[in-house]
Amino acid sequence: MTARVRKAVIPAAGLGTRFLPATKALPKEMLPVVDKPAIQYVVEESVSAGLSDVLMIIGRNKNAISNHFDRVTELELNLQKKGDTQKLERVVKSQELTEDIYYLRQGDPKGLGHAVLRARAHINNEPFAVLLGDDLIDARESLLTTMIDEQEKRDATIVALMEVDPDQIHLYGAAQVEETDDPDVVKVTGLVEKPAKEDAPSNLAIIGRYVLKPEVFDVLERTEPGKGGEIQLTDALEELAADDSIAGGVYGVIFRGRRYDTGDRLDYIKAIVQLALDREDLGPGLRPWLKDFVGDLD
Ligand code: UTP
Repeated sequence: MTARVRKAVIPAAGLGTRFLPATKALPKEMLPVVDKPAIQYVVEESVSAGLSDVLMIIGRNKNAISNHFDRVTELELNLQKKGDTQKLERVVKSQELTEDIYYLRQGDPKGLGHAVLRARAHINNEPFAVLLGDDLIDARESLLTTMIDEQEKRDATIVALMEVDPDQIHLYGAAQVEETDDPDVVKVTGLVEKPAKEDAPSNLAIIGRYVLKPEVFDVLERTEPGKGGEIQLTDALEELAADDSIAGGVYGVIFRGRRYDTGDRLDYIKAIVQLALDREDLGPGLRPWLKDFVGDLD
């Protein structure tokens, strides 16, 4: 048995080039998904899995993120004066999620692996979670809690895997896996970053949730820049998967629930439509309009 995960790291220092020019002055994690920035969904997920100590790795335009989770007194007073309690609640919720949000600069965006390595001093010698704002997991799912439980049980590195269409696997890291006694958990024996369909070891793709052990920091320290000249987290995970003696190997939790991809423009648009349709305040208005609109398409 190992110590239970208490801390989350949210890397949000990427350049977000796929969303330019929107991300010239705004981190992509601040782009609204319906009416909340992606990063708020991720913090909500972290807190509801019991991880209220949240370290954000931030880059350019850092103030947008920290301002979002701070109090804005004049806005609160204005809404109070107007008696607009609904909007006031929404504002207050974003700043009361947790008191323990910490920020650290990445400096140069040298890759996700490099961003995670920046968390070393804050995390110290404990297992921890990493959540990416590119993937939003529906609030009704308990993926992160399941991953934390598996980490505790297996004392290993845990990644989240999702079955994708073989035609899509070239967009992801694909896992080579072996079965375990649990149909929802596999042992990861290798990883291939963005493979061609015919080279993919499986159609299980890595998605943006990880529960890592502190040993990953030593591996990241010696990981050479890979694809795009960046230090890739996947390269470090590959090393951990290839040698169980480093940190107990890598296991994958197969996620079959609701996930919204916000990493590229098309998926981002789909995510907004899906999430808005599910909302009590917006769904009833959007649904009939969308049906009409789709009916008119040729
Ligand atoms: P992506 O690979 O999606 O890169 O990063 P990106 O730069 O943000 O986006 P594009 O491809 O240019 O549009 C995956 C996650 O890792 C973080 C990003 O913020 C995102 O959450 N990241 C990436 C960092 O924090 N630092 C980096 O140096 C790179």
